[in-house]
Amino acid sequence: MNYKEILETVYQKIAPIENVGELATYIPELATINSEKFGVHISTVANTNFGLGNFQEKFSIQSIAKVLSLCLAYKHLGESIWDRLGVEPSGNSFNSLVQLETDNGIPRNPFINAGAIVIADILISSLVNPKEDLLNFIKSLSKNKDIDYSAKIAASEKSVGYRNVALCNFIKSYGNIYNDPEVVLDFYFDLCSLELTCEQLSELFFFLANNGQTRQGEQILTKSQSKRINALMQTCGFYDESGEFAFKVGLAGKSGVGGGIIAIHPNQYAIAVWSPKLNKKGNSYRGMRFLEEFTTLSEQSIF
Ligand code: DON
Repeated sequence: MNYKEILETVYQKIAPIENVGELATYIPELATINSEKFGVHISTVANTNFGLGNFQEKFSIQSIAKVLSLCLAYKHLGESIWDRLGVEPSGNSFNSLVQLETDNGIPRNPFINAGAIVIADILISSLVNPKEDLLNFIKSLSKNKDIDYSAKIAASEKSVGYRNVALCNFIKSYGNIYNDPEVVLDFYFDLCSLELTCEQLSELFFFLANNGQTRQGEQILTKSQSKRINALMQTCGFYDESGEFAFKVGLAGKSGVGGGIIAIHPNQYAIAVWSPKLNKKGNSYRGMRFLEEFTTLSEQSIF
């Protein structure tokens, strides 16, 4: 499969289309991004590493980081994490509160904000230096170690993060947050503020395309755990648009309101796309279009 050629063809086709959607203006700092940025990078099991457009420019990965915090918690604590949250698609928006009341403070899955906040709480309880340990874990997945939180973006989100404050306190009222909500939220906002390039992202997520193993041969998650993370990305990675992503693209994936998408084809590749304008569900408009075209032209999806 000539992924390089296919990527070039798809890029040429998608770049000129009307770039519709809105920036994530609810986080003031994200409203200042140049909405025309467009980058893509693939890292394949067969060792093709190739990028186009703004693939070497850093952007705020936001909810994509929830996969990384989940992997770290899963690696440390194994199946016990599922006592604190579920593995079902929520069918609701990423920041919804509604199901928490009927579900007694147990979030439906780790990718909605409620679930990622519980994972943050789990990591705070189990790591010695949570922020540093998480960053070191992420760096250990990548050759390029130039990775950090953005204090500016974290502060920007914190200044308006009332919904997440509400979510965290609401879950705590059911006893499913063990630490001080302020500490949990501080960790969560930092997690979402991580900045990476498409190249770093696809390289970092490569292990999920490679049965839990990095290119250097380090087993990050077991084969079964890796399969389960991909299953969760497939069913919950795009919130109430997860069905649409499976239907049109057919890969395991995760989006972020910074306009990034990481998608995994197990045993084939990890691909990262970045285009900041979002559709109504908070997922990158051009990113989704790009991946749809990519799996169509390559005639390969996980289905
Ligand atoms: O908590 C928030 O609202 C953001 N830090 C992350 C949301 C997000 O990326 C949703 N994804 N599409």
